[in-house]
Amino acid sequence: MSRKENLEFLLNRVESRQKELGELSSYLLELESQLALIFAASPDMIVFIHHDGRIIKISQAVWKILGYDKEEIVGKYIWDFIHPDDVGKTQRIRTKLIEDKFLYFDYQNYFTNRWRHKKGYYIKLAWKFSLYDDREDQTIGIATDITNLALENPFHFNLVHKAVELTNDGIVITNMLEPDNPIIYANKAFCKITGYDQTDLIGMNCRLLQSDNKRQKALDTIRDAIANGESCEVLLRNYKKDKTVFFNHVLISPILDNGIVTNYIGISRDLTPLIENGIYVWDENAPRGFGKNLKANG
Ligand SMILES: Cc1cc2nc3c(=O)[nH]c(=O)nc-3n(C[C@H](O)[C@H](O)[C@H](O)COP(=O)(O)O)c2cc1C
Repeated sequence: MSRKENLEFLLNRVESRQKELGELSSYLLELESQLALIFAASPDMIVFIHHDGRIIKISQAVWKILGYDKEEIVGKYIWDFIHPDDVGKTQRIRTKLIEDKFLYFDYQNYFTNRWRHKKGYYIKLAWKFSLYDDREDQTIGIATDITNLALENPFHFNLVHKAVELTNDGIVITNMLEPDNPIIYANKAFCKITGYDQTDLIGMNCRLLQSDNKRQKALDTIRDAIANGESCEVLLRNYKKDKTVFFNHVLISPILDNGIVTNYIGISRDLTPLIENGIYVWDENAPRGFGKNLKANG
């Protein structure tokens, strides 16, 4: 090859390389603008986190979900935002993910924790994580705000409400923050079992069902459970509005908000037919109202 031919060949190579590079950079620009669009539009929070817990990059949703501007969160450590009770769990899961070199937003990497909103309260986030395969020292997390999942989603809310209204179990909710723990909600089945309507029940303590029958040992069990913020299950002799006796299988459970018992939920079932048929035996002196005397006839 002559010098001239050699030069032409090299020039051609340079030109085709320049063309390739031009195509590549416009492709990269396109990718970058697509990524920026996803970052801006995603209702979920997308977060790039260094393995030491430092937040590297975060999508716009952080403002909507947690109330922070990017500058208030980028460069800080995730531990500064996570609820102290959730730090241990988050640390364990992240360590395992990094050790296992997880590369997928797999259901196995799904977990929840609470992050502090700028205003001080906590937001419950459902996370999916993956290692960032181009940068071995980072993970990518995608977080959905599930704080008010049932309430914000009208479909869920209606469904839950319908289920609670239509079940055959009596359901009452009481308010522990008001004096004497009054009923604030009673479903249709509770009204049907007790013969009272909602306006009779709201504002009253459930003991209105006991009439004068207050010596039952199972009431001590309920008192102890409430005093300790615990749940319990008892069989009580109760009276309907028209004073007929019925045997009420009651299960009560505390509802906590930030570690404080704010409410109790009670689930009642009328076991009178089973008592009348001798399948269950009520015992006034048994701690749970049936205790050892519970028997089944098959
Ligand atoms: C959620 C909930 C549901 C309750 N349901 C009943 C019930 O159906 N019948 C009943 O006799 N007591 C029921 N109780 C118990 C009474 O409300 C009360 O706690 C019990 O009588 C003991 O307290 P006292 O000594 O102040 O009466 C329920 C309590 C709670 C918290």
